[in-house]
Amino acid sequence: MMNQERQDVEQTEGQREAASNGLPIYFAKTLAGMERLLKDELIELGATDLVVVRRGVEFGADMPTLVRVCLCTRFAIRVLRPVLWFKADNTDALYEEATKWEWGSVMSSTATFAIDVTSHSEFFTHSQFATLRLKDAIVDHFRTSSGVRPNVDRENPDVRIHLHINQNQVTISLDASGRPLARRGYRPTGAKAPLSEVLAAGLLAKAGWKPGIPLYDPMCGSGTFTVEAALWADGYPIQWHRRKFAFMDWRGFDEEVWWDVRDDLKAERQLQESIIYTSDKDYGAVSQTRAALSNMELDGRAELGRSDFFKLIPRTDSGIVEINPPYGERMQVEDLDAMYSAIGDRLKSHWAGFSAWIISSDFDALKRVGLKHSSRETMYNGPLECRWVGFELYEGSQENKTAAVKSETTPIVVAAEEEVFTESMQESVSAVEEPAAAIEEVPVAESEVAPEAEAKIDVDVLVEKPKKPKSSKAAKS
Ligand SMILES: C[S@@+](CC[C@H](N)C(=O)[O-])C[C@H]1O[C@@H](n2cnc3c(N)ncnc32)[C@H](O)[C@@H]1O
Repeated sequence: MMNQERQDVEQTEGQREAASNGLPIYFAKTLAGMERLLKDELIELGATDLVVVRRGVEFGADMPTLVRVCLCTRFAIRVLRPVLWFKADNTDALYEEATKWEWGSVMSSTATFAIDVTSHSEFFTHSQFATLRLKDAIVDHFRTSSGVRPNVDRENPDVRIHLHINQNQVTISLDASGRPLARRGYRPTGAKAPLSEVLAAGLLAKAGWKPGIPLYDPMCGSGTFTVEAALWADGYPIQWHRRKFAFMDWRGFDEEVWWDVRDDLKAERQLQESIIYTSDKDYGAVSQTRAALSNMELDGRAELGRSDFFKLIPRTDSGIVEINPPYGERMQVEDLDAMYSAIGDRLKSHWAGFSAWIISSDFDALKRVGLKHSSRETMYNGPLECRWVGFELYEGSQENKTAAVKSETTPIVVAAEEEVFTESMQESVSAVEEPAAAIEEVPVAESEVAPEAEAKIDVDVLVEKPKKPKSSKAAKS
């Protein structure tokens, strides 16, 4: 049963495991639109018997493969091990079935646990009540059999249980990782409107970025694109720093397997040279990105600088520029349409030879970019429906470029760039990063900057040269 696709996951445990030649079956959850990326990644990591479903992929894996998947996956949010399936159309039936199950096979009576729930059911309209009944079932099971009851710990449980209800089909799974794989742990607190780490990793892949291709992240915020790209280029598994996964507490887990897999991954590591140019007009955002890189021991793997995108000049002839501008949802902008129109104009006039990608939930503003897209896909940034739109910016004369990239159908709004961005244009680009208050002003409008002056700005913008990647890292052993 290789690489099938189907909409439901309603099989019995026996049917599933027979189909995977006796290997345990897992379910890797991902974001809508990233299922194919996850499937290909799982194949590379050694998973078998893959079945793509909405927002996830089922796969068969032995314990070494499970460890490898949990350490390496960039596209899975969680990896679940389904342990119990049954049909129930009310919470009492759920309780009855769950109490009967041999919970001692996966946890001890003194373990702490937490339950997450996802429910799409007209039978279970209050999913939190279903969670409560499952908790009662587990507690009562242990109390009856051993007189001791396990306790709930929402923050740091020994065992994380996932309850999935699809109409009357109930699936109970163990979370293999515990803390979600999506939370890599590098982001400093206080990030404004950040992308989820898994989404950023997916968008990089969907844009066709690979280590070696110059990458620009010119509205970096807390630097999620930058850190995900730097981690990819670094070649170590994305969870290399993490020492605790829930599967380590499962009965029968062999610690030897953990160390063997880590040794193999270390031997397989391939560091790839990559230049990543990262900037934001906000000083605090650049500092956050620097801290995030540092948290992953990736200091110096991106050229960091404070800069207004509308003054930035690419340092290479080609590459990929990924832009996550404000959407006007979590970050307010005075005139979003004008901003997006100015982004389009800037790409057109200064980024020929590049692939440019923009993610936004404001579809009207996206139209104002005024360039003909080569790719457009629906993605979700948390609850926000977004479009990830790609533009190929052709080489050629200014006139040809304009002709090539301007959409014939999309209305082109003439950007009042000088007016709209008067304030930000007066921010200077500082050769040494310093707090905004200390920034010297450049009293010229963007359109008045001579080419030589622009080149000077460009050099000044990027204040940190990337360090040569080290071939080995003692700290990472
Ligand atoms: C939605 S946030 C980016 C979030 C980022 N992707 C992350 O994961 O944290 C938008 C960023 O664009 C920056 N920005 C807005 N206008 C800009 C401009 N003209 N030049 C450079 N950065 C700009 C803001 O300072 C903000 O950090």
